[in-house]
Amino acid sequence: MSKIVILTGAGISAESGIETFRAEDGLWAQHRVEDVATPEGFIRDPKLVVDFYNARRKQASEAAPNAAHKALAKLQQHHNGQVVIVTQNVDDLHEQGGSKKVMHMHGALKSALCASCDHRWEAPMVMATGDPCPKCKAPAARPDIVWFGEMPYDMDAIFDHLAEADIFAAIGTSGNVYPAAGFVAEARQHGAHTVELNLERSAVGNQFAEHRTGPASRVVPEWVEELLGNTVPRRPDFR
Ligand code: OAD
Repeated sequence: MSKIVILTGAGISAESGIETFRAEDGLWAQHRVEDVATPEGFIRDPKLVVDFYNARRKQASEAAPNAAHKALAKLQQHHNGQVVIVTQNVDDLHEQGGSKKVMHMHGALKSALCASCDHRWEAPMVMATGDPCPKCKAPAARPDIVWFGEMPYDMDAIFDHLAEADIFAAIGTSGNVYPAAGFVAEARQHGAHTVELNLERSAVGNQFAEHRTGPASRVVPEWVEELLGNTVPRRPDFR
């Protein structure tokens, strides 16, 4: 029984119509990170931040899972061992594609968080600033998104999984944001085989033992079929 730990990023949802962050015309070319994705930005201009995530929530609600999300669900279902999916994405396309127990280390658009008592509830499609918390009634609702300077969720559990991984794969992530960008080093140090599936080499690409270059909707299903023993393994791309 082998354990596969998979980290996904914006690239896996790109073909579903969700913008990535660091493409030339991506989200961070259109918005300043400091304004919309930091606690300080939220204090300065909460409406700007809430509106930004309202737009993300609307875009995500119009998207459907693609072949890559579905392939990972198939792997989870049929692999003889454990398949852990950790995502930096705040959409729910993994779940819609059939995956279970997805760890959303950067939060989720479908969730709202009380900045006063930490209670969580299902976010409405359009949040407003100062929405009251259903539990403590403080006017302190915020998107349940991990902003820069905040601690990502589930870190202890994720590092435990990385220490036990036989295979670690990163899919559609540029390797620019830590701690996620450090997962490959951690898994490798504990003996995992490491594979990167991406359109291009990421910022930490040289740390992976194997590369599969191409759109996620093609390379992920191919990789999954090989892992499940349904196709003859191709020669790994060691370039
Ligand atoms: P990025 O936008 O930084 O990187 C997306 C990666 O996906 C790039 O390496 C692209 O080459 C690749 N890519 C694009 N389209 C692809 C496709 N069709 N198939 C395969 N790969 C493709 O997004 P992330 O790495 O996810 O955090 O960004 C990490 C974090 O930075 C995000 O969670 C977000 C952002 O700031 C917060 O907001 C806290």
